[in-house]
Amino acid sequence: GDATATSETSGAGSERAYPVRVTIVGAGDVGVACAYNLLTRSVCSELVLVDVLKDKLKGHVMDLQHGGAFSSTRVTAADSYADTAHSTVCIITAGVRQRPGESRLELMARNAELFKHIIPPLVENSPDTLLLVVSNPVDLLTNLAWRMSGLPRHRVIGSGTYLDSSRFQTLIAQALGIDPISVQAMVLGEHGDSSFVYRSGITVGGVPLRKCFDMLPQADSSNGGFDGLVDRVHKQVVQAAYEVIELKGYTNWAIGSAVGSIVSAILQDQRKVVPISTAACALKGLESSDVFLSLPCVLGRNGVLETLQILPYMDEDERQQLRQSIAVLEEVVKKP
Ligand code: NAI
Ligand code: 2OP
Repeated sequence: GDATATSETSGAGSERAYPVRVTIVGAGDVGVACAYNLLTRSVCSELVLVDVLKDKLKGHVMDLQHGGAFSSTRVTAADSYADTAHSTVCIITAGVRQRPGESRLELMARNAELFKHIIPPLVENSPDTLLLVVSNPVDLLTNLAWRMSGLPRHRVIGSGTYLDSSRFQTLIAQALGIDPISVQAMVLGEHGDSSFVYRSGITVGGVPLRKCFDMLPQADSSNGGFDGLVDRVHKQVVQAAYEVIELKGYTNWAIGSAVGSIVSAILQDQRKVVPISTAACALKGLESSDVFLSLPCVLGRNGVLETLQILPYMDEDERQQLRQSIAVLEEVVKKP
């Protein structure tokens, strides 16, 4: 891999090379799944974990280090934020999670309070970093992180509906008897109950699914056909986290895979098009909106290089669903 690559941090007239350091704040179930995924990818030279629970942090870091013969990434536990200095990417997974039946939005007040202790020291030590927010409610906290950080908007992103999109692709593929990698589909909007599917954009091997639906091995045209399947699978996607939380108490492996893919896209400047949480105002027609939510973005070393202008290609239903997601998020922000 390119784990020995260095990142350039330009200061006043000088250029210094540092190892490619990635920091994860929050070594809970999600933070550790992200760490493990990144270790197996060997895309950074150093992974720094931060947590307020020092013993648990030490235990996880030792355990991850013991796999050192199998990864070229060095894992360390931070004593303080000084140990995170010059991180290329900082991932924030700290905070409380949903109890069974609780919505993501209900976590806002508690996790916003934590961000006051996390974002300022993080950015002070890594003024050129890219922030990747994972803690929930991810769209609102990405917006908050951007405001608190003073970083340019394109350098602060949330994992958003990249996870929901993977869930959707996987479940559609299962229903049709094909490989999820052959299904291109995006869930957009809030990472939460008001997300929606960009239906006209679902393709299988590049062919619009609406057109090739009947040709697929397990397609069932009796049950509402294409639209029926998309509706049912989207409902399953919205319920997915609730269901897993009911069963095992939390979700972590799938988000770990999503974060590994996002961080690789950044570090390798892949310019991959992914649905991630970004400022809605980047979309022509939504200039006055100040929420963050998931839209298709071109993601590279500098963060969001472009937000795809999809508004004209959405049908009226989809535009309405996007407005609805914006309204849901604005409502929470307005609450005292
Ligand atoms: P967890 O309880 O296992 O871990 C949270 C960790 O944050 C704990 O180890 C805690 O000590 C640490 N922490 C708390 N305050 C901190 C601070 N000020 N500085 C550093 N660390 C601090 O929870 P889990 O399951 O890891 O979930 C974390 C968050 O991720 C939750 O908000 C959850 O809703 C969210 N999540 C988001 C997903 C997404 O798709 N965006 C997917 C799954 C979870
Ligand atoms: C998930 O979707 C709970 O946001 C978390 O898995």
